[in-house]
Amino acid sequence: MTTLTDYLAQHSQSANINHVIGDISRVAIQINHLLRQGALADIQGEAGNQNVQGEEQKKLDVIANDLLMDALTQNTACAGVASEEMDNAVAANAGGALLALFDPLDGSSNIDINMPVGTIFSILPYNNQGHTATDADFLQAGTAQLAAGYVLYGTSTVMALTLGNGVAMFSLDTQSNQFVLIQQNISIDADTKEYAVNASNYRHWLPAMQRYVDELVAGKTGARGKDYNMRWVAAMVGDVHRILCRGGVFSYPFDTKDPNKAGKLRLMYEANPMALLIEQAGGKATDATQRILDITPISIHQRVPVVLGAKNEVDYIKQLHEAAQ
Ligand code: AHG
Ligand code: MN
Ligand code: MN
Repeated sequence: MTTLTDYLAQHSQSANINHVIGDISRVAIQINHLLRQGALADIQGEAGNQNVQGEEQKKLDVIANDLLMDALTQNTACAGVASEEMDNAVAANAGGALLALFDPLDGSSNIDINMPVGTIFSILPYNNQGHTATDADFLQAGTAQLAAGYVLYGTSTVMALTLGNGVAMFSLDTQSNQFVLIQQNISIDADTKEYAVNASNYRHWLPAMQRYVDELVAGKTGARGKDYNMRWVAAMVGDVHRILCRGGVFSYPFDTKDPNKAGKLRLMYEANPMALLIEQAGGKATDATQRILDITPISIHQRVPVVLGAKNEVDYIKQLHEAAQ
């Protein structure tokens, strides 16, 4: 049996990274415990306020954020923390070598209906050691990530982790309260017959995305010559986990629903960590045409269209978008 702690000792050169991932895993176990208690732990319903992005916060969004913030701002390896639920980054320990970013609770609309939710995290180097960290220190391309992962609170609780050298998965042993390695060297097939997209936004998409989904829906009788299946968890963590387990393609594409939002998902604590995991498993992640990990961020909360998963499928979507330009 290999625990997460064992795995980090064997595969990571950095005590700092191990320290931060150790804290994140301990908080994930606390969040898991609250989720299992559900309504009995008073975690359901609205918190009664909005986050910086104008979204209604759920009670658990706030609780998960506070737990991660408390742990990571006290972590000596951590110079600063940024979260979906906070307007600005929070400085931690100026001597720290790392920055931590997270989506404390992904898939918030699933909380009250007892469906899967997750926590997403990304770890960046801190290049301004000795000074107080600000938002500007976080604006590094996804290629700079030193580690990334998620915890999926599903039928079981699973962590997927990359240290930039493949993807490993750990399952939470609720007896010993430890994450235990269940799979290594995860690899996504280049082709797939399964896609994930919220098709209720169809009318707001670009023609290239509409054409792509039209072709999938046409199945054997259409241009792709095979039938496709569709799944939508409404928590990116769930959809990405399915892709790491059995392949597929996921998109939250560009849409014109709200002219102030180029897409729904956030670059720095949703798209980047997921893109690193997907690439480390042999898949691809783009904004339809450009590699997600190459994007230079201009704000910690910026949004980005996302297309990720099976390599050939992501390439095909890129071709359709380029042909339409
Ligand atoms: P969050 O709960 O952190 O705001 O993220 C939810 C995101 C993502 O996880 C999911 O894929 C998507 O929003 C679901 O959006 P729809 O409700 O539009 O389907
Ligand atoms: Mn999210
Ligand atoms: Mn969230």
